Amino acid sequence: MKGIILAGGKATRLYPITKGVCKQMLPIYDKPMIYYPLSVLMLAGIREILIISNPKDMTRFKDVLGDGSNLGLKISYAVQKEPKGIAQSLIIGEKFIEDDNVCLALGDNIFYGDQLVALVQDAAKLKEGALILGYTVKDPQRYGVIGFDKDSHVVSLEEKPKKPKSNWVTCGMYFYDNSAPKIARKLKASSRGELEINDLNKEYLRRGMLKVKLLGRGHAWLDTGTYESLIDASVFIKTIEDRQGLKIGCIEEVAYRMGYINKTQLLKLASKIPTSYGEYLKDLLKDE
Ligand code: G1P
Repeated sequence: MKGIILAGGKATRLYPITKGVCKQMLPIYDKPMIYYPLSVLMLAGIREILIISNPKDMTRFKDVLGDGSNLGLKISYAVQKEPKGIAQSLIIGEKFIEDDNVCLALGDNIFYGDQLVALVQDAAKLKEGALILGYTVKDPQRYGVIGFDKDSHVVSLEEKPKKPKSNWVTCGMYFYDNSAPKIARKLKASSRGELEINDLNKEYLRRGMLKVKLLGRGHAWLDTGTYESLIDASVFIKTIEDRQGLKIGCIEEVAYRMGYINKTQLLKLASKIPTSYGEYLKDLLKDE
């Protein structure tokens, strides 16, 4: 399975913060936001990753992540000229996906939880259809809302409905078979002028090919779309990291633990980070 991280958009809801810095590079406590979804893809076993961004911010991602080889990854880049919706990234990434399946992750979504690794590793084994993640929130009208029948089967997906049918919403990480780009090409733009990922998921649902995995209450799926949620996410990460002495979303650690890089490569990465973050990476080797 291949991975796509969508890190585009103007993030006007965070102005003026995002006037000069793209949202997915904003700090979430001790690392750039994009490290979090990237680390989840890496934990799922996905090593070929396409980062889609706007022309202005592309160089920032290249500066930070390069071709991914120092993490044992193959990272490539593609431009989204105009933000025309999440589903557009599957069209932009069509050539990259080739005849593979794909996990599409939003560059501003933060996931955390004990069962998460097993869940995404399982999801990455997807053979056909689509698998999406659901999470319960208190403000479902801000998201794609999942409707269930009395037997808990998914029967509807509604984008930002005024009257949500449940508190379960779709998270920004989606697993698709190879037909996703073709379906995306047939979508019509919504009233907000976007190719909606919700419409793509609805097409899989219509075909009877959509699975939904619900993340239980022992998981965190954090939003970073407002000033408040941005700082809340940082505080959450800081609290857990300080308490446990373990980092969340630490791509260098994940690369090492997943066997994508060896000790020498990890030490080399650590030596280039002259902060407690670099010390943490060095300590990983001492612990052994
Ligand atoms: C998008 C999707 C929505 C989904 C959400 C997850 O919302 O359209 O269905 O629940 O991502 O973050 P947007 O960020 O475009 O408002």
